[in-house]
Amino acid sequence: MSIYHNYALIIKEYLKNREDNFKLILNRKINDCPKIQRPRITAWCYEVVRREVTLNFIALNVDEKFIKKSEPYVRAMIFLALYFLFFTEKKLKGNIVNALVSVVPLRAKSYFNWFLRQSLRQEKELACVLEKAPLNIKLSFHEEIIPFIKNLCLKSGLSVDFMLEYLNKEPVFHLKCFDYEKLEKELIKRKLSFYKLEKLDSLLVNEKFYQTMDLIKQGLCYVQNSTSQLISYIANKITKGNVLDLCAAPGTKSLTLSLLNPTIKITAVDSNKKRVEIMKKSLDQKTQFKIFCSDARKDKVKGNYDLIILDAPCSSLGTIRKNPDIKSKIGIKDIRENASVQKEILSHTFKSYPQSKVLYSVCSFTTNETDDVIKDVLSQNKQRKNCTKDIIPLIKLLGFNFYESDLGVYILPHEELNSDLFYISLLI
Ligand SMILES: C[S@@+](CC[C@H](N)C(=O)[O-])C[C@H]1O[C@@H](n2cnc3c(N)ncnc32)[C@H](O)[C@@H]1O
Repeated sequence: MSIYHNYALIIKEYLKNREDNFKLILNRKINDCPKIQRPRITAWCYEVVRREVTLNFIALNVDEKFIKKSEPYVRAMIFLALYFLFFTEKKLKGNIVNALVSVVPLRAKSYFNWFLRQSLRQEKELACVLEKAPLNIKLSFHEEIIPFIKNLCLKSGLSVDFMLEYLNKEPVFHLKCFDYEKLEKELIKRKLSFYKLEKLDSLLVNEKFYQTMDLIKQGLCYVQNSTSQLISYIANKITKGNVLDLCAAPGTKSLTLSLLNPTIKITAVDSNKKRVEIMKKSLDQKTQFKIFCSDARKDKVKGNYDLIILDAPCSSLGTIRKNPDIKSKIGIKDIRENASVQKEILSHTFKSYPQSKVLYSVCSFTTNETDDVIKDVLSQNKQRKNCTKDIIPLIKLLGFNFYESDLGVYILPHEELNSDLFYISLLI
């Protein structure tokens, strides 16, 4: 089957199921494509999803009835064509147009053909319209996200352009593993470029990451961004006792903590049954874990814990590079809903484990999900205090860029560490 058709089947699925996670759809459907096509299809899917708002804007400028007239498959093909036309060197040439037209179903062929020719004819005017478009359209962000990004820049002193460019970059993947010699040999054999982050003991793999998927499936390594690793490094530094990881699935923070200190006893729980099953598979060979399902808003896990890791569910805006669908899907409503759950979980954690330190983190930077949560919950728990300053030396030692507020620390972009943006607060 044509590579264009196989690409369109994946994006069609994504456009039809707006609630589903793009990466999960891609991982599921890519296995139906011939091996040789997979890297290119993966790259196109990421590029199109990362530019969805922009491509939609251009398409509506070509034909304002675009959404009404095009079914998801045709829309996927139009997005790819516009991506070629406006964002690649290759450009949309006659032969690509013909190849794309040839795979579109007969009922949509004449509309699709007309659309592509029209886009080619109007290429210059469309480029001008795009040039004058608001920033969120040019960079393909949901309009409600830009103020949050600007706010973080205002606080941290970073330029908005730099921040938007960083968040729009292709993702780089950090591989952690049990046997680096074996992993390095494998990567060299596959001619994949990588480099080692010495301080964090992980390998950074470039955009051909897709070619390492089988190594992950075999259990030779796992993916964990540098900032996510940082949480485990902090946890290791501040405790030698029992640890309860309250929103733990799929378990990467617990796993890294266990590699750093194989003697720590870790109880890893999560409210999502499916995710708990996945976590059991990745952690089950280790005896230092107890794993089960539990709701951090209302349950109390038996036992005495020195430290609670509370990596709360959030908007995940800090991980936009590897979850590009977040750019167009997340708005203020989602952020407020997440903040409300986070407050509920943190309040219940304080109530249920009064003696335990709590390491709160979210892979987001909106004030609602970060400082506001801590402020609100601390105001009702006067016996607790914020001790984030105690973890700053370690964050510095590991080389992260950060901005420290009165209540927590915002992990900022770092070119070499390729850090996702996180917020961390230590409460005792
Ligand atoms: C950011 S993810 C955790 C990632 C994990 N800590 C890791 O490093 O692999 C947030 C998790 O919170 C879980 N979650 C959401 N609501 C929860 C609740 N009420 N109680 C416990 N876990 C919850 C989600 O299922 C999700 O797995």
